[in-house]
Amino acid sequence: MADNKRIDQATGTSTVGHEWDGIEELDTPMPRWWLYIFYACIVFAIGYCIAYPAWPLLTRGTPGVLGWTSKGQLEAELAADQKAKAATLAAIDRLPIEEIEKNPTLMHAAIDGGRAAFRINCSACHGSGAAGSKGYPNLNDDDWLWGGDIKSIQQTLLDGVRFPGDDNTRMSQMPAFGKDEILKADEVQDVVSYVRFISHQEAASPSAKRGSAIFANNCAVCHGPNGGGNRTVGAPNLTDKIWLYGGDRDTLTQTVTNARYGIMPAWGQKLDPVTLKMVAVYVHSLGGGEAIPAAAPATTVAAK
Ligand code: HEC
Ligand code: HEC
Repeated sequence: MADNKRIDQATGTSTVGHEWDGIEELDTPMPRWWLYIFYACIVFAIGYCIAYPAWPLLTRGTPGVLGWTSKGQLEAELAADQKAKAATLAAIDRLPIEEIEKNPTLMHAAIDGGRAAFRINCSACHGSGAAGSKGYPNLNDDDWLWGGDIKSIQQTLLDGVRFPGDDNTRMSQMPAFGKDEILKADEVQDVVSYVRFISHQEAASPSAKRGSAIFANNCAVCHGPNGGGNRTVGAPNLTDKIWLYGGDRDTLTQTVTNARYGIMPAWGQKLDPVTLKMVAVYVHSLGGGEAIPAAAPATTVAAK
C-alpha cells in the first residue's frame, strides 16, 4: 500500500496510497486550528476529571480534588436565598399587619409566602383557589361569617372556629330546632319558607308569613332581625344567595332541624407567627378583603 503513495499533481498533496477504480485518497492534514482545539479539549477533560466528580466507581464516583458537589452548590444557593429572604421575613415579623399591606415589597413577599402555605395547609378544606365547598366557606367573595378585615381574618386563623383545643377559639352554636324539639316539624317548614322568601327564592306565602314570626322569635337573635347575619357569632347572612351548606328546601330543613357545627382548626398552634401573618395577608388579598371597620377598631388582637 505504502508503495502506491505519490504526490498528487493537481493539489501537490501526498496520497495515502488507496485507490479505487482510479480514484485516489489525498492525505490532507487536519487544519492546525482544529488539531489544537482537539488537544486543548483532551487537556481540559483530564483537568476536569481530576478537579470535579467524574468517573463512576463501584459505590460512588470519583469525588474530584475541588470537593464540589451539585448538592453542595444547591445548599449554598438555598442558604444565600434564605439570607436574602431573612430580612424580608424579619420585617414581616416586626411590623403590624396593616403596615405590611402598605409596603409593596413586603406585601408581595407576604402574598407569595401566604399562597404557598395556603396550598399546603388550607386547600384540603377550602380548595386550592380558596373557593370553598359545602361547609367550607369561599374565601374569595365578600361574604364573611366572622369578618373580612385583616384583623378578623388573623383572629380566625389564630384561634380557629369551634376548635376544641383552643380556649380563645371563635365559638357559637345554632340550636338544633327540630332535633331538640324547639320547633315542630311544620314550624321548621314555615321558617324554611321564610328563609327562602328573604333569599328571593320563593314568593310570599302563608307558610312564609307564619315563618316570619317564628324567625323573629327564634332566629333573629343571631341572624339579625332581617336575616342579614351577625359576625360576632358567625351567623351567616341568609338574605344573599351565598350558602355555606345550601339554600334548597331539603338542606335548609336539615340545617334548621339538626344545626351545623363547622370546625376550623386553630392555626396559631401549627404555623409560625410569620407564616400565619403571611397567610392572613394572602387571604385578605383574595378579593373579599375589607378595611378594618372604623367603628370597632380590633384592638383585642395582639400584633403578631
Ligand atoms: C379541616 C378543614 C379546614 C382547614 C384545613 C382550614 N379551614 Fe378555614 N374553615 C373551615 C371551616 C369549616 C370554616 C367555617 C367555620 C364556620 O362555620 O364558622 C372555616 C372558616 C375559615 C375562615 C373564616 C371565613 C369567614 O367567612 O369568616 C377563614 C378566613 C379561613 N377558614 C381560612 C383558612 C386558612 C387560611 C386555612 C389554612 C391555614 C384554613 N382556613 C384551613 C375549615 C378548614
Ligand atoms: C345561637 C345563634 C343562632 C340561632 C339562634 C340561629 N342560628 Fe342559624 N346559624 C348560626 C350559626 C353560627 C350558623 C353557622 C353554623 C356553622 O357554620 O357551623 C348558622 C347557620 C344557619 C344556616 C346555614 C346557612 C348557609 O349558608 O348554609 C341557616 C339556613 C340558618 N342558620 C337558619 C337559622 C334559622 C332558620 C334559625 C331559627 C329557627 C336559626 N338559624 C337560628 C347561629 C344561629
